[in-house]
Amino acid sequence: MKLEKSDILKALESITVAGEGKNMVESGAVKNVITFGDEVVVDLVLSTPALHIRKRAEVDVLKAIHEKVYEKAKVKVNIKVEAAEKPDLKNSIKGKPIPGITNIIAVASGKGGVGKSTVTSNLAVSLAKMGFKVGLLDADIYGPSAPIMFDVERERPLSVKVGDKSKMKPIENYGVKILSIGFFTQPNQAVVWRGPMAAKALNQMIFDAAWGELDFMLIDLPPGTGDIHLSIMQSLPITGAVVVSTPQNVALADAKKGVAMFQQDSINVPVLGIVENMAYFTPEELPNNKYYIFGKEGAKYLAEDIGVPFLGEIPLVQSIREAGDIGRPAALQTATPIEKAFEELTRNIVQEVVNRNESLPPTEAIKITTMAGCSAVKK
Ligand SMILES: Nc1ncnc2c1ncn2[C@@H]1O[C@H](COP(=O)(O)OP(=O)(O)O)[C@@H](O)[C@H]1O
Ligand SMILES: [Mg+2]
Repeated sequence: MKLEKSDILKALESITVAGEGKNMVESGAVKNVITFGDEVVVDLVLSTPALHIRKRAEVDVLKAIHEKVYEKAKVKVNIKVEAAEKPDLKNSIKGKPIPGITNIIAVASGKGGVGKSTVTSNLAVSLAKMGFKVGLLDADIYGPSAPIMFDVERERPLSVKVGDKSKMKPIENYGVKILSIGFFTQPNQAVVWRGPMAAKALNQMIFDAAWGELDFMLIDLPPGTGDIHLSIMQSLPITGAVVVSTPQNVALADAKKGVAMFQQDSINVPVLGIVENMAYFTPEELPNNKYYIFGKEGAKYLAEDIGVPFLGEIPLVQSIREAGDIGRPAALQTATPIEKAFEELTRNIVQEVVNRNESLPPTEAIKITTMAGCSAVKK
């Protein structure tokens, strides 16, 4: 049996890759088709970072060739993900609410201690490893932890001139630019911030800092759903929110409130999805043993239940805690299950940002008229 390239291409025209309107030949995803006898090699270039879409494309190619051309064809599919991942994300951005900062992602949790800061810091380094320009704004006025988690506790942001203005220069480590409310207080100093005051401080850290160009700014929000969150969310144009929860019931109940907070009319920030942290405990030496000490898949069910995407699960592993404590996020490791778990989570979040930007206009900061002391910060 001798396979013809034209027959193969014809078969591939029946496939549409998720997220692209045209079939894969038309869209240019098929870069090359080589046939020899009953063998065929198909080179694909996809722009999506989502693993399941890539797997899907491969399965579809095999199926199309087997069904439409020759059922015994020996097919090899090479998939390359173009560095076009980044430009592609950019193309889908409909507007730039803050000059230079493309996407602002708020990371929230209803309950404290569920690993919000751990997830945020690992997300930040994963994004940086993928080549994105990343900023991390640690807005947790009750317990800022970015300085420790990035081993920059003793650093203090300097002021630099940008044009004729003085701006705060973020501290940088592991490819992530960081500003934290912790840089401006003494360790152990209890700071009581009211909502409008916190919003003002954060506004300064966003608008009066020399972030440069960022693909993503992650905001580590304080836990809970209080008045501080209202102030922050109403004054900043947040692209989307990620809610972190453990599978435990008390955490889930609070995560649900967190989602509801973002979705309420006066805030209206798209929820990108829910992350399940501490999904199960796994001992490093027995990675296949999983102990569901906080319950199983609770966050996944919650996501299904309230109709928001489930973004992924991170196990409870001792080295994740240790990495946080020594200030070197675990996602910096290479070729470990932990790195993979964070990478998959990150890809899913990027994909949800792309989806969000394709389907919705930019979030606008809301003009606050009812809360005393808040000025309008509509940019
Ligand atoms: N997946 C995990 N595996 C192991 N330890 C974790 C994990 N996630 C968080 N921790 C640890 O749990 C504690 C609380 O996490 P943290 O990120 O500070 O929570 P939050 O910001 O929600 O208060 C920290 O000591 C952290 O190192
Ligand atoms: Mg925290």
